[in-house]
Amino acid sequence: MKIAVAGTGYVGLSVALLLSQHHEVHALDIVPAKVDLLNAGKSPIVDKEITAFLDRNASGERPLNFQATLDPAQAYTDADYAVVATPTNYDEKRNYFDTSSVEAAVAAVREHSPHAWIVIKSTIPVGYTLQLRERLHDDHIIFSPEFLREGHALYDNLHPSRIVVGAPQDDEAAVAAAKTFAGLLAQGADPAEAERHNANGSTGIPELVVGTTEAEAIKLFANTYLALRVAYFNELDTYAESRDLDTRAIIDGVCLDPRIGDGYNNPSFGYGGYCLPKDTKQLLANYAAVPQNLIEAIVEANRTRKDFVSDEILQLVDGVKEPVVGIYRLTMKSGSDNFRQSAIQGVMKRLKGKGVTVIVYEPTLNKPDFFGSPVTHDLAEFKAKADAIVANRWNNDLDDVADKVYTRDLFKRD
Ligand SMILES: NC(=O)c1ccc[n+]([C@@H]2O[C@H](COP(=O)([O-])OP(=O)(O)OC[C@H]3O[C@@H](n4cnc5c(N)ncnc54)[C@H](O)[C@@H]3O)[C@@H](O)[C@H]2O)c1
Repeated sequence: MKIAVAGTGYVGLSVALLLSQHHEVHALDIVPAKVDLLNAGKSPIVDKEITAFLDRNASGERPLNFQATLDPAQAYTDADYAVVATPTNYDEKRNYFDTSSVEAAVAAVREHSPHAWIVIKSTIPVGYTLQLRERLHDDHIIFSPEFLREGHALYDNLHPSRIVVGAPQDDEAAVAAAKTFAGLLAQGADPAEAERHNANGSTGIPELVVGTTEAEAIKLFANTYLALRVAYFNELDTYAESRDLDTRAIIDGVCLDPRIGDGYNNPSFGYGGYCLPKDTKQLLANYAAVPQNLIEAIVEANRTRKDFVSDEILQLVDGVKEPVVGIYRLTMKSGSDNFRQSAIQGVMKRLKGKGVTVIVYEPTLNKPDFFGSPVTHDLAEFKAKADAIVANRWNNDLDDVADKVYTRDLFKRD
């Protein structure tokens, strides 16, 4: 089968490589540097599994049928499937996702391939696929939510918890195309994965073919639940800190209940990263006239948490004349290679709003400043200059200055 993938970011690249094990895949991007890098066998993002795949391909050990391109004609002409994995940033003015890159990709596919099945993998508002199908009079568009984690993008596609594809349930051809696409994703997964699911008594990796709107809702409700969990344990920590209690002891005791479990319970400055902040806001926007209390609270809780954390930090430097606060890493998680929407940026903004001088240690940022705050790669100089150091996630780099570090990373993990 010939498959095109629009967008070679976390989602597009991992799906493209997964599918290229068994099919001819052309991955298209609009950024020449990314395409050049990929065609030289290098990954534009930090991801162990992606790098291993590209290396094994280059050495001939496990060849992939994969090519990156800037040329829409090469990618889309005669494609059976065209997967769209372009960004959907949250537009704060319109209070909705900006889906323009998805629509640009869909238009480009249609220019070269009138009949390819277009599978939107980008996260989109609930109801979007049906509206797009109607607006474009195009019944060859379906949607498949992506659940990967950054840093484990390809791994998560090789070991999927489930495969979900949405197609209008009254459209036989679309449902058949959705089932075929689910099968393509399952075919690319690690064979041991199907056995693992089988061992649980089920039959292989769970494949759900549901309505497009249900599939869109699955994605936004899943991420909003994860945000809820982060916000919940953060708010538990806010309470414990305010009442001088041992957060760790409380979380340990709470999470030993198997119904609650141990994941996603490490306090932080807020939920962040590319997806959770925007997906929760989009779900709230989708509620519009539908009654709710929780969804709004999940969005609000992140702001309240950052206000609380900022106030705590300000107290640490209270009384210091012209205090300097050092931000240790802009990334969200310790192994991350980007800092899209990281919570520490919200804390930084609040500190600067109170007139505090902020300096940044971020070795992956090659710019002299970040929103007006100087950036250094010199850790010793950074430690010496800062009156207090703020770290969303702990790193042993900070051991020698532990007494001036503010972190809520109680379990020393993401
Ligand atoms: N990053 C995640 O963890 C994650 C997880 C699940 C879902 N998603 C969703 O998937 C989508 C993509 O996210 P991502 O993190 O992979 O984004 P990304 O920013 O890493 O990659 C997007 C890529 O699309 C390219 N692009 C933009 N417009 C294009 C066009 N018209 N044609 C072809 N390529 C184009 C960009 O140059 C970029 O390389 C978003 O909707 C996101 O919400 C992301």
